[in-house]
Amino acid sequence: MSLPRHIAIIMDGNGRWAKRRLLPRTAGHRAGLKRMISLTDHIFARGIECCTLFALSAENLSRPEEELNALYGLFRVYFTEQIPVLRERGITLRVIGELSLLPADVASLIGENTAKTAGGEKGTLTVAIGYGARQDIVSACNRAVREGREVTPETFASMLSTGGMPELDLLIRTGKEKRVSNFLLYEAAYAELYFSEKLFPDFTARDLDRAIGEFEKRERRFGRIDAGR
Ligand code: IPE
Ligand code: IPE
Ligand code: MG
Repeated sequence: MSLPRHIAIIMDGNGRWAKRRLLPRTAGHRAGLKRMISLTDHIFARGIECCTLFALSAENLSRPEEELNALYGLFRVYFTEQIPVLRERGITLRVIGELSLLPADVASLIGENTAKTAGGEKGTLTVAIGYGARQDIVSACNRAVREGREVTPETFASMLSTGGMPELDLLIRTGKEKRVSNFLLYEAAYAELYFSEKLFPDFTARDLDRAIGEFEKRERRFGRIDAGR
């Protein structure tokens, strides 16, 4: 089977990674950010065109202020330093989620700086921040109702914040938990699921290759009896 076109990763386990080292949770998030950068380099180097990363859920916004502030600090760094790198590689950087729930300076930095990568044709990197799939689905429903539109599964998909992206092929979650925690609920209908025991800062490019290798061995039937029939 061929490479997945669209991979999503629930980047979980930063807090436990830090705890094991007797470090503050924020050190785990710093390590997670480093890992996120090296993994995305690897994903696009492998020729995968679309990658969606879960960085902060809508529900995570009720975490203690200290932890959120540390995360916002990391977003400020990421959405400044990575812009020229991604632009140079032809990667379009996008953000999905409720940015209005973030501090105003972070939201505007993200808006302005992601715009600088628009038009990159080698790939699309989407970071989900303040994102919740139910919230996304409900807001698309409300839009359809307001506009008096009847939707089909396809037109509805195009109204979600992931609209226009290729079908999600592979959904990976690191950090031992086996749940989707309100991520890409509609998009994952026929995604292959892969759960890793590794905490996100320990999840290497080799681990990712293992997940892709397993994806390539799976038979995707989409409800039919045999694949491809
Ligand atoms: C995932 O790691 C990153 C965010 C949710 C921001 P966690 O912070 O959930 O790490 P654990 O699950 O507590 O180890
Ligand atoms: C999911 O992780 C969200 C992200 C990785 C950004 P959580 O740590 O918030 O998920 P739960 O609380 O274990 O379901
Ligand atoms: Mg977690």
